[in-house]
Amino acid sequence: MQYEAILAPLDGFADSWRDFVAGGGKGGNVTVPFKEQAYQLAEVLSARAQQAGAVNTLYLNAQGQLCGDNTDGLGLVADLTRLGISLAGCTVLLLGAGGASRGVIGPLLDAGVTYLVVANRTVSKAQAIAANFDSRVQACSLQAIPKQTYRLLINATSSGLAGERPDIDIKHLNGCQLAYDMVYGAEPTAFMQWAKQHGVPQQADGLGMLLSQAAAAFNIWRGVTPDIEPVLAMLKLQLKA
Ligand code: ATR
Repeated sequence: MQYEAILAPLDGFADSWRDFVAGGGKGGNVTVPFKEQAYQLAEVLSARAQQAGAVNTLYLNAQGQLCGDNTDGLGLVADLTRLGISLAGCTVLLLGAGGASRGVIGPLLDAGVTYLVVANRTVSKAQAIAANFDSRVQACSLQAIPKQTYRLLINATSSGLAGERPDIDIKHLNGCQLAYDMVYGAEPTAFMQWAKQHGVPQQADGLGMLLSQAAAAFNIWRGVTPDIEPVLAMLKLQLKA
């Protein structure tokens, strides 16, 4: 098995995929900015991909049809479980309303989350996402987050890439067990550092989610789920080097 990165041109995702299959390719992961185009290209979509509106895993089935799945949400749920968070009955504050946010809400609800607030700088984007779900999911701006205890805070904004964090009041950290940032890097993100300073017991970045979504994709292709722990330890060392 060979697994390598292919840099597709911005206007040539479908052609790149076709070339890959013509060269013997059987399956692949898709990342930004092509997850929506992969969704369009797939002939068969999993329920998870339909709910996310995006595909991160492609494969050819026995009939040669192109199938699209999405393992991002599974990856997050697996990583939260690894970190000791019990999602049954959990209340969640999810910051951000881009592709990263949309893909994880369904799997979080399926894992037992009872109440989830999507808060975004641009409130209309949060409202558009919440409209796809039932009343367990509420939308608001970063300034109008409902006052209530959120056991889990997830930063799904891209603010960490610029060394920033979403501008929310510290009162929303009261009672929070874990502050999770989907972004990762060599150092704790600004969001993680802020949560730590204000007494949140646990902080984590998105490296475990990245590995868990990859492990779930590997399972789709090969029927076995690799253990992420040794890979996580290796990658952490590499990031620090
Ligand atoms: P992705 O697919 O990775 O989620 P995206 O679709 O570009 O990327 O979405 C980025 C998200 O990060 C958006 O929710 C964005 O907020 P807006 O919708 O208001 O643009 C959010 N974001 C980026 N930088 C931010 C910052 N500094 N503070 C708060 N939110 C930020």
